[in-house]
Order: sequence, then C-alpha cells, then structure tokens
Amino acid sequence: MPMQTELAEPWEAEDLALDDEVSSIIPASSVLSRRSRDDARLPSREAPTTFGQPSPFPTTRYYGSKRRQMDWLREEFGRLEGCTALDAFGGTGAVSHLLSQLGWDVTYNDVFQFNTISARALFSSATVQLSAAGVASILRAVRPRPGFIAANFAGLYFTDEENAWLDGFMATLAHVEPACKDLLLHCLFQACLKKRPYNLFHRANLKLRQSRVAVQFGNRTTWEKSFAEHILSTFEEVRRMQRGLGGKVKVSPGQSAEAIPPGYDFVYVDPPYFKRARAADSYLSRYHFLEGLARYEEWPRLLDDADRLRRIDASTVSEWTDKAALTRNIAALIQTHRQAKFALSYVSGEHPSEAELFALFRDSFSRVRLSRRAYGRALSKQKFFELLLIGEP
Ligand SMILES: C[S@@+](CC[C@H](N)C(=O)[O-])C[C@H]1O[C@@H](n2cnc3c(N)ncnc32)[C@H](O)[C@@H]1O
Repeated sequence: MPMQTELAEPWEAEDLALDDEVSSIIPASSVLSRRSRDDARLPSREAPTTFGQPSPFPTTRYYGSKRRQMDWLREEFGRLEGCTALDAFGGTGAVSHLLSQLGWDVTYNDVFQFNTISARALFSSATVQLSAAGVASILRAVRPRPGFIAANFAGLYFTDEENAWLDGFMATLAHVEPACKDLLLHCLFQACLKKRPYNLFHRANLKLRQSRVAVQFGNRTTWEKSFAEHILSTFEEVRRMQRGLGGKVKVSPGQSAEAIPPGYDFVYVDPPYFKRARAADSYLSRYHFLEGLARYEEWPRLLDDADRLRRIDASTVSEWTDKAALTRNIAALIQTHRQAKFALSYVSGEHPSEAELFALFRDSFSRVRLSRRAYGRALSKQKFFELLLIGEP
C-alpha cells in the first residue's frame, strides 16, 4: 500500500502564558465523540459511572511532562481507534490519564520506581480507605530520628531537621499497608519537589534556599512549608482527581521500554530529549533522591560513593541516556510494536532532528502524520516546536 503522509497545520499556543496551576479538564464530549464512532475495534468494556467526568490531573513540574499539551494530544489521539494502549515512558502519568479518559485500556510504564509508585498511587489506590484525617494522624505519629538520610545528605538538599523528619517518616511507613504506602510516598515525592529550588535534585543548592538574598524565581514560602503540609495538600489533589477517573490504568512493575512485549493497539513513546549542542542531565541526576526514597532499603547499596551529590549509581537504572543510540532505540521499539499505531513526542531543533525522525516513520509505516505545536522559550527569539509523529501500519 502506498504511504500516505499528512502534515498537520502547525498551530501556535501561548504556552508560556499558561498558568501552571490551572488544571487540565477533559470534557465528557471527547469521550462521547470517540464512542459515537463505535465499532468492533473500540473498547468493549462497560464505562464506569464516573467515566468522562472532569478529572483534573494533579499539578506537576516534572521535567518533560505533557500536562500542558493535553488539549492537543486529546485532539490527535481522539482520531485513533483501538482498545489497548501502552504509555511506555509514562513519567507523571498525565498521558495515561488522558488516554484512559478517552476510553483506552491503558498500561503505564516508566523505568523509575518513584514514577511507578506514583502511577500506582494515582491510578490504583482510588479505592484505598485513607482519609485526610487518616493521613494527618499518620503524620502526627512521625518521630524525627537520625537515620540513613540524616547521615548521608547533611547540608545537601534539606535542613538537618528535615532530613531527620524524612528518616522518621520512612520508619513510620514501614507499618503502613502497601496501597496506602504508595499514596503516602507519592505525596512525599511531591512534597520533596516543592521544597527544592527548581524542583530538582541536580544541584546541592540548600544554601540558596537558606540565604536571605531576594530570589527572582521559586517561592520561599513554598520551600519553607513543612513536608506534612505539602503531603496533605497533595493528598487532597490526588483524591479530587481520583473521583473522576476514567477507565482502568494498569501499572507495569517499571522496566526499560524495550523490554515490554508487543500486543497493544496503540503505543505512545515520550522518551528523554537530547540537546543537540550539549549533554542533557539524566532523569536520574534530576530525581535521584526520589528514586532513593522509593528504594529506601536498598538505597545504601545504590549510592555512587565517589559522587559528592550522593546520587545513585547510574549503572543501577536502565534509563535511556545514550544520545547517539536514540534513533536506533526508537527504531527497535517500532520494530517490536510494528502491528500497532505508534506515536512519538519529541521537540524540534534537538537531536535527532525532525527530518531524521520523519524519515524513520516514513520508512516504518504506511501512513504517517506529523503535527507541530509552537512554543516559546524564555529569553529566546527562536521558535521551537513540540512534535507529534503518529505512524499507522
Ligand atoms: C519526557 S519524560 C515523559 C513525560 C510523560 N509523558 C509525562 O507527561 O509526564 C521521559 C520519561 O522517560 C523515562 N525513561 C527514561 N528512560 C526510560 C526507559 N529506558 N524506559 C522507560 N522509561 C524511561 C523517564 O523516567 C521519564 O519519566
């Protein structure tokens, strides 16, 4: 069959003007429009009663999150038909959430345990009997104590008191049942990010947080709120989202994307981006502290002893960090899932180029659609595009 190529009209969005705190709401109409084209290939399961109700995905500042692209992705994915979808590089789970709202049976995957725990908390713990009062009472039971975090991370990311609180919290969690533990850990991860300058662990900039010099960014009040306050507010937000959950999302145990066997109708791939001109920070380097909390018992064995930031040894995680191999790795994923519809998110102007990615899709699929969405970058006059390539066999 001759290949058909579609180049969608680029449309511009004032991404930078968007308020990060505004929740993306999936209207019921998008679900209905998908189901109105119902045929034998559409999801056969019964919709739960809350299906299609607004379900705001919790706010996040996770690097590379697609939370701001939801309207665009909903429009693009709404055109596709099928039952089962794989979100292979799931990150925050924002896209899994969208796909489930669109009626797909979704499998979420991410190579990191902290992301896997968060996805389980968001998607699997909706029925867990844990109230805000219950969380507050667990938090009241936390007794700060000198433990692994206090001993290894002094002066790096949090104050001594905060480190001792984290050790106390982890000790308290040992007595909590697994599903509640996922939910509490997810809330803890978010609290840790909110209390960090830049919401990252790529630098040990505790001094920046403690200095009295006026800062142009970030929010000192947010940094100085306690873990307990942040945990409680995240918990409320998760519960709001769970009240409107669409279809079920299965969460894989957390493996490297290439290890996932085929069998899905639709595969969505949103890998780490690589800068053309320089090396990018890895996700492990940005979020190693959360991965350590997620693997608390193992953490002492995971540390890279030579690293002054006390990061986890990169050899213990199969994250995609090889810039030169990215095109090859995507090609291998396409080969594995060659019977599926396959979508890739990437950015223009980086490595690999838009032309290389397009050529890869053109060679692999009989129908290819490329759409772009312009976005500005602070302090840059240059136009960049978010890219979405969709190939159909
Ligand atoms: C661009 S982010 C995905 C963002 C996600 N779509 C969202 O909306 O939050 C890339 C993700 O790929 C994950 N990742 C990196 N290497 C991976 C691998 N080999 N297999 C699976 N996930 C991987 C990272 O942990 C990160 O969460």
